[in-house]
Amino acid sequence: MTVFTRRDFVTSTVAAGLALAGRPRHPWRSGLADARIDVLVDEPIGTIAPEIYGHFVEHLGGVVYDGVWVGEQSRVPNVGGIRRALVEALRAIHPGVVRWPGGCFADSYDWRDGIGPRASRPRRTNFWSDDPHMQALGNVPAKYDPNEFGTNEFMRFCRLVGTQPYCAVNLRTLPPRSFMEWVEYCNSPAGSTTLAEQRAAGGDREPFGVRYWGIGNESWGCGGNFTPEEYAAEFRRFATWAVPAYGVPLSFIGSGPNGGDLEWTRRAFRELAERRSFDRLWGWALHHYCSAPNGEAVAFDDTAWYDLLGSANRMEGLITSQWQVMGESDRERRVKLVVDEWGAWHKMTTNLAPAHLFGQQSTIRDALVAGLTLDTFNRHADKVAMANIAQLVNCIQSLFLAHEDQFLVTPTYHVFAMYAAHQGATAVRTVTSAPGVTWTDGQKVQRSLWGLNGSASLKGGALTLTVTNPHLTEPREAEIAVRGAALRSVAATTLAAHDVHDHNTFEAPRTVLPAAPQQVAATTSPLVYRFPAASVTKLELTLGT
Ligand code: AHR
Repeated sequence: MTVFTRRDFVTSTVAAGLALAGRPRHPWRSGLADARIDVLVDEPIGTIAPEIYGHFVEHLGGVVYDGVWVGEQSRVPNVGGIRRALVEALRAIHPGVVRWPGGCFADSYDWRDGIGPRASRPRRTNFWSDDPHMQALGNVPAKYDPNEFGTNEFMRFCRLVGTQPYCAVNLRTLPPRSFMEWVEYCNSPAGSTTLAEQRAAGGDREPFGVRYWGIGNESWGCGGNFTPEEYAAEFRRFATWAVPAYGVPLSFIGSGPNGGDLEWTRRAFRELAERRSFDRLWGWALHHYCSAPNGEAVAFDDTAWYDLLGSANRMEGLITSQWQVMGESDRERRVKLVVDEWGAWHKMTTNLAPAHLFGQQSTIRDALVAGLTLDTFNRHADKVAMANIAQLVNCIQSLFLAHEDQFLVTPTYHVFAMYAAHQGATAVRTVTSAPGVTWTDGQKVQRSLWGLNGSASLKGGALTLTVTNPHLTEPREAEIAVRGAALRSVAATTLAAHDVHDHNTFEAPRTVLPAAPQQVAATTSPLVYRFPAASVTKLELTLGT
């Protein structure tokens, strides 16, 4: 495999000489910039919805049982049965929203199974119980859901971590009436209905005020194998104006395409337009999982490094192409995109417990996937209203890994912590030019990726600029110009790894960690900053006039 950039050809001898002479000690000054980032503070894109920094909790493998829910009697420190370490770490990064209970699981779930006294709740076969990885296991919660974690428990979890709930509705196996009653259970005022009384009996007198409701999940696949026209008709039955609102601005999310399937969106939107249904459709769900051919979470080679980042970078085109097709029917642009499942999905060779279906380790490569994806959402803040990384704990690209009393945060968690400053800020146009990265993939096809990319947002006089450098070995120096503003101070936080295969383990949970924020002395614009190879960086710039 070859990895080279334009700069390799032009300056490889010079670079070697510099290496001998010693690189400058300060990352923000050397005068060798071959990249440029222009932050156009007077070109706002839109407000970055805090919901873009959202999460996903499905009854799948070790996500709920072992990950979130340990039970009140557990020796694992907990708050009313919910893992305390998870609550504390998640709360610290200001999660915008949490989606539950699925995923594919949602279309087999009856919310009534998860209310009332826990001891008398039914045990049900989990949607995922037939997965080949589950075959060798006994009667574990991942196969037979004990329903200990139901609606009240989920709402308490949301309250504890300071976030909003997003409930995924069963469209495949339950009728619209059941959905309406779930809304009633969650949102009807204290004492008003029998379901509100049942909610109170479960410990929650006050309504939950659930705003976000997903109407089916992957309805082209596990959620019913519908055609787009059939799905649009189902959506109308579920989401018609007859659903009682109880004063909550109900926001319904429709089941969007399989990856880049434009026809699903085109046909469903035409059908919805026919019956003027866009006032009921707040968001259109898009799912994108990235992967590399060898599928290994940790034992990847250089090709798989770039292949994964290239696959993650498809998000840009998915957003713009879906948005364009949505606009063919939704002329008034009422409907926004909701990327309610995204992340890097590897093979299950590094999961931490047998019942952790789709469990995987996480390296700096996954952190770059998170950084470049969140930057993409920020750059499209006018189109993307919510996004949910899959999944919160013990599954796919998790922020946390947990088993019994052991717990750690992954490199992806650190990216969410670094990027939290973007939430609620105004995204501003950022133009980056840098020598691209080119590589030959496993099929001997030449592929390329930008050499630096990122996003910027403004809140008061504080500008947050986040940047990923995908090059495995080359740092990238860039001139950063903030048009129309002076720099008062600059602080940099960098996430990189000694070895790109490093990952956090229960024994060594701080192996991949961001460096402490560094004050950058230079306050002239353009500022020259050196982005380390294979890194995610946050620059916090205080602007003056
Ligand atoms: O996140 C795992 C699964 O991936 C979800 O249940 C489903 O929606 C998707 O196919």
